[in-house]
Amino acid sequence: MSCATHLACFACAKRYPIDRLINLCACGKPLRVEYDLARAARELDRDDPARYRSLGMWRFRDLLPVPRDTQPVSLGEGNTPMPAAPELARQIGVSRLWIKDESVNPTGSFKARGMSAAVTMAKHLGAGKLATPSAGNAGGALAAYAAAAGLAAHVFMPRDVPAANRLECELFGARVTLVDGLIDDCARLLAERKAAEGWFDVSTLKEPYRIEGKKTLGYEIAADLGWRLPSVIVYPTGGGTGLVGMAKAFEEMRTLGWVTDPMPRFVSVQAAGCAPIVRAFEAGLPEAARWEGAETVAAGLRVPAAIADFIMLKVLVDSHGTAVAVSDEDMVQAARVLSAATGICACPEGGACLAALRGLRWRGWITQDDRVVIFNTASGLKYSEAWQAERRAPRGANQ
Ligand SMILES: Cc1ncc(COP(=O)(O)O)c(C=O)c1O
Repeated sequence: MSCATHLACFACAKRYPIDRLINLCACGKPLRVEYDLARAARELDRDDPARYRSLGMWRFRDLLPVPRDTQPVSLGEGNTPMPAAPELARQIGVSRLWIKDESVNPTGSFKARGMSAAVTMAKHLGAGKLATPSAGNAGGALAAYAAAAGLAAHVFMPRDVPAANRLECELFGARVTLVDGLIDDCARLLAERKAAEGWFDVSTLKEPYRIEGKKTLGYEIAADLGWRLPSVIVYPTGGGTGLVGMAKAFEEMRTLGWVTDPMPRFVSVQAAGCAPIVRAFEAGLPEAARWEGAETVAAGLRVPAAIADFIMLKVLVDSHGTAVAVSDEDMVQAARVLSAATGICACPEGGACLAALRGLRWRGWITQDDRVVIFNTASGLKYSEAWQAERRAPRGANQ
């Protein structure tokens, strides 16, 4: 069974049926999937061993919106490792540190989770052609899952996107449009053409299912920690699907009675060259203005404006969290430390989390008692431009 009942707007709570293709609420804001959690609490056993026979993130399919008789479009996403890093924890000065390593997903990034859910639902609800703007990894994931589903994919990417992201899209047979601009320019071009082309838009939080895939991050973290929650989660934030999805997962699990720990304090990490959420959080604003002139080697963080800005900022405030910007130099250097210390192939976004953790510990915002999860959201192998740029940069300036 799936316990999903309907969709509801994140902003105005207007309800929609769950059995048709839809993007945003009539008010222009994102929709979320609602569940009958009372029924789920009665009927689901969080430790049900049968669940582990399902592949990867689909072991939580009762809490995903896909009907039982629908086969998920899956390439084996989720169920990623979360090794402890005791030596790094000791050096930084926290009681426990885990690294959720999303680099081992299909297409080498955590975008696989969201696209597995979104493509499954789009196919189930009758879409034939899917389109997305992408700063990099989402495009590759859409291309792969559309290929697996036998659907057409069209990806709009900035012209200077990492080469690996463009190549993977092409390899999976997606049509790629390179745009002179950033991801929101890509989104604008897509929006202009989608009606005439018959594309279903699977942009971040412009359809309700990518966050459902991402929310499995939260379920996996809790399950891996024996249904305990960490006290802090440090997450590299662009469009915000992971942050919003995990907060939703923890809320659901608390309602289900699967966890009793308080909501972890969320830390949103952004690049110093593109930090709209950090700027808004620091100013105490409920929404974030567009960041002009966005620039960073962390392609996934080059998101100057996000439709879920108000949801992310509320998650940060409600969880007593914070938001931190990290320079490119620091994140690349930290990615090297993370890789060399753990054997995990860290991306700049993963390095940004480690650098943010160090800074927050130094400032005392994170304490010795904290139990911290940081994210490596993609494989460093997709970022050859970032490592080459670092080799060319003069050493010492930021050390
Ligand atoms: C490697 C990587 N990390 C983090 C992000 C940001 O993800 P989110 O949209 O969940 O904020 C992205 C998004 O493109 C990404 O590719």
